[in-house]
Amino acid sequence: MDPSLVKIPAMKDLTIDNITENVIRINSLCPDERMKYILERLVTHLHDFARETRLSTEEWMTGLRFLTEVGKICTDVRQEFILLSDILGLSLLVDSIDHPKPAGSTEGTVLGPFHTHEAEELSAGAAMSHDPNGQPLLVVCTIKDTAGNPVSNVKIDIWETDSTGHYDVQYPDHDGPDGRCIMRSDAEGVFWFHAITPVPYPIPHDGPVGKLLKVLGRHPYRPSHMHFMFEKEGFDHLITALYLRNDPYETSDAVFGVKDSLVVDIGTAGPEFAAKYNVPEDHACLTYDFVLVSDQETSALRARNSKEALDRLGRKVRIVNGLPVPDLD
Ligand SMILES: [Fe+2]
Repeated sequence: MDPSLVKIPAMKDLTIDNITENVIRINSLCPDERMKYILERLVTHLHDFARETRLSTEEWMTGLRFLTEVGKICTDVRQEFILLSDILGLSLLVDSIDHPKPAGSTEGTVLGPFHTHEAEELSAGAAMSHDPNGQPLLVVCTIKDTAGNPVSNVKIDIWETDSTGHYDVQYPDHDGPDGRCIMRSDAEGVFWFHAITPVPYPIPHDGPVGKLLKVLGRHPYRPSHMHFMFEKEGFDHLITALYLRNDPYETSDAVFGVKDSLVVDIGTAGPEFAAKYNVPEDHACLTYDFVLVSDQETSALRARNSKEALDRLGRKVRIVNGLPVPDLD
């Protein structure tokens, strides 16, 4: 680009007070409106953060070294940046903004760093965990839309730890999926399988994120849970989890994932399920009715929430595809 064509102020004599405006102005050459808006807000908040904390060079370098360490420890099976986002509450915040849920639908929660793409599709009633030390658990769920109709042929990704609180990929000799599977809902929207009762576990805390938790005086534990991810064309992608009530970490989850509507009790199969699913009546059993939201409902709600949130902040923006961009008019 010919610098003589760029209409920005000459950038010199920059000060604590005018640098933000100058950085935003040169970034405003970006032709992508959404990117421009994100960078404008990011630079504003980053600069205000430095001004408000009176950030020292030494502290800034400590931060950069920390982020370098976070990057260095990442591998195909360890995602320290997701973990960092999780323990800062950012993952939960972004999911809640991007996947708004109308009343009565199933809330989303954090994906976490242990979802993989190697799970096998299993048929109804299969065992997804082969840990002999786990407490056997029958899981029977339904999927409906917000009008109460069963939703069939939904692809459901399910994953949980073994009885020691480790995911399969955390074992160095890991050579195939265990404690995870893919299922499809049947014509009645039902899917069911055999698992083990989830246990609490610490997130990986032998790396930079663990050190940060220690500095903050925080524990690294997640309450007992089982992850679920739902995909079907026409419906908003739902990433969620079910949490066991009265877990010692129910109210202090290291990654802020617990929501009241996702807390469940484990009961027993009882006579009806015992006969239907061929288990003893006192077999541990978890049931849950998931409610998926259509893409259309989600888009409309996302756009409405964006407008209300930006109005509250008093920001003049336009909403495009549910997301704010600068209003140039
Ligand atoms: Fe998990």
